[in-house]
Amino acid sequence: MGIVVLDFGSQYTPLIARRLRELRVYSVVLPGTSPVEEICMQEPQALIFSGGPASVFDSDAPLPDPRVYDLDIPILGICYGMYLLSQHFEGQMKQVGRREYGKALLIHCKGPLFAGFPEETQVWMSHSGTVTALPPGWRVVAATKENPVAAIESPHARYFAVQFHPEVVHTVEGRLMLENFLQAMKIPRDRTAEHTMELLVQEVKEKVGSERVLLALSGGVDSSTLALLLAHAGIEHTAVFVDHGLLRQGERAEVEQAMHALGVEVITVDAAGQFIQALQGVWDPEEKRKIIGREFITVLKEKAREYGPFQFLAQGTLCPDVIESAGGAGTARIKSHHNVGGLPRELPFKLLEPLRSLFKDEVRELARLLGLPDAICLRHPFPGPGLAIRILGEVTLEKLEVLRRADAIFVQALQETDIYQDVWQAFAVLTPWRSVGVTGDERHYGYVVALRAVTGVDGMTADWARLPVEFLDKVAWKITCQVPEVGRVVYDITSKPPATIEWE
Ligand code: XMP
Repeated sequence: MGIVVLDFGSQYTPLIARRLRELRVYSVVLPGTSPVEEICMQEPQALIFSGGPASVFDSDAPLPDPRVYDLDIPILGICYGMYLLSQHFEGQMKQVGRREYGKALLIHCKGPLFAGFPEETQVWMSHSGTVTALPPGWRVVAATKENPVAAIESPHARYFAVQFHPEVVHTVEGRLMLENFLQAMKIPRDRTAEHTMELLVQEVKEKVGSERVLLALSGGVDSSTLALLLAHAGIEHTAVFVDHGLLRQGERAEVEQAMHALGVEVITVDAAGQFIQALQGVWDPEEKRKIIGREFITVLKEKAREYGPFQFLAQGTLCPDVIESAGGAGTARIKSHHNVGGLPRELPFKLLEPLRSLFKDEVRELARLLGLPDAICLRHPFPGPGLAIRILGEVTLEKLEVLRRADAIFVQALQETDIYQDVWQAFAVLTPWRSVGVTGDERHYGYVVALRAVTGVDGMTADWARLPVEFLDKVAWKITCQVPEVGRVVYDITSKPPATIEWE
């Protein structure tokens, strides 16, 4: 079956798996040092060695089991994977002083890996070494202006290695390169969303067995999909919806109705007082996130005592939550997502997170297969910490109320047009500042509210949405008229990077 990706610790490894799914290929990610017996259990037709933060010159550099080379299947090495192949086949390398990041122009492309490539194309580099002498018999099949050895190929074109990252979007023809690899190595491309679903079902069944599952449900697409997936797998579970008082206008009733319509029985916990109390006087975004993660677990533990015991806590954690929150080896922690980096160290449950390797658009595809209505499938993502991370600084009941009203006006206006579906996410943010205005003949000193709308595919990067100015004008008027505490409305025109989508 398909491809085994050996992971040597690159933050981009989940993206390799994602690209292969997009190309409808079966793939499994295994630790880079997995014994060959484990690799063979997957019956791979090819291997990919991922990048990684280590240097092959380190004495403790992670190496693949040397017997993988006896399997006689094609291998594609990416970045650190290139050095592994080069080292094994007796090429020579040198280390560059500091890791080099950024865009480069790929030129002089040839061979099956680069079929259909233009004369020049942008690639994304993130490397700490360079090949100085090729393994005997190998040839160079692409270069950059700075580096004459950006891609190499073994005799008989069985092994390939590239210094850049084909899996990231900044490598413009990355998808074509992976497609070429699959085609040249005759890897079948017949995986469907149904297969993905069946693999997930099999995985949760094996993991859970006859143990009991508590599901943390938020009513968003991820946890709702998970509820349906568990039901589809025949796994009984108890779904708990925590109202932490940080929800949007009317959200609790909406979630309860939607779940009822789907036949998902939900226990709603009214924990608003507890969360608001715990957030009192807290200004720091990371601290807020940690407090919310901790309070979630406190509530879930209480419910587990009441309805349990439960061995598993199921969460709709997605791949970007893990990447941005936990930070793998050499990866920066951007923010602690309430369900990953924000969790207390000691948990009285095992975590069940079957969607952990997927991205939002893939979950939406799965959701449709499982029969989740579009009204939930196409809802904008809403972060677990809710409005707490959209109120800059301290969260108070008054501020929550102001933000809820402003946000509802913005989102309703979007829903009345097609723009809601065209953007990835749109919401209002309440700043801690007030600014001077004039209403009638009176001085007015009101909150500054920011509107944020972004386009994107997976939340990892995003562009600010070019909303029509007439639309923004209408919304700003409505907010200042209907929410008198707000004196000024601004529109956020920052993309991610350098900003993030949420303000905290
Ligand atoms: P950022 O702000 O990091 O957000 O650009 C990327 C995506 O993740 C969502 N987000 C969260 N989702 N728990 C969640 O469930 C969290 O703690 C969290 N923080 C950010 C955010 O809304 C956006 O879609």
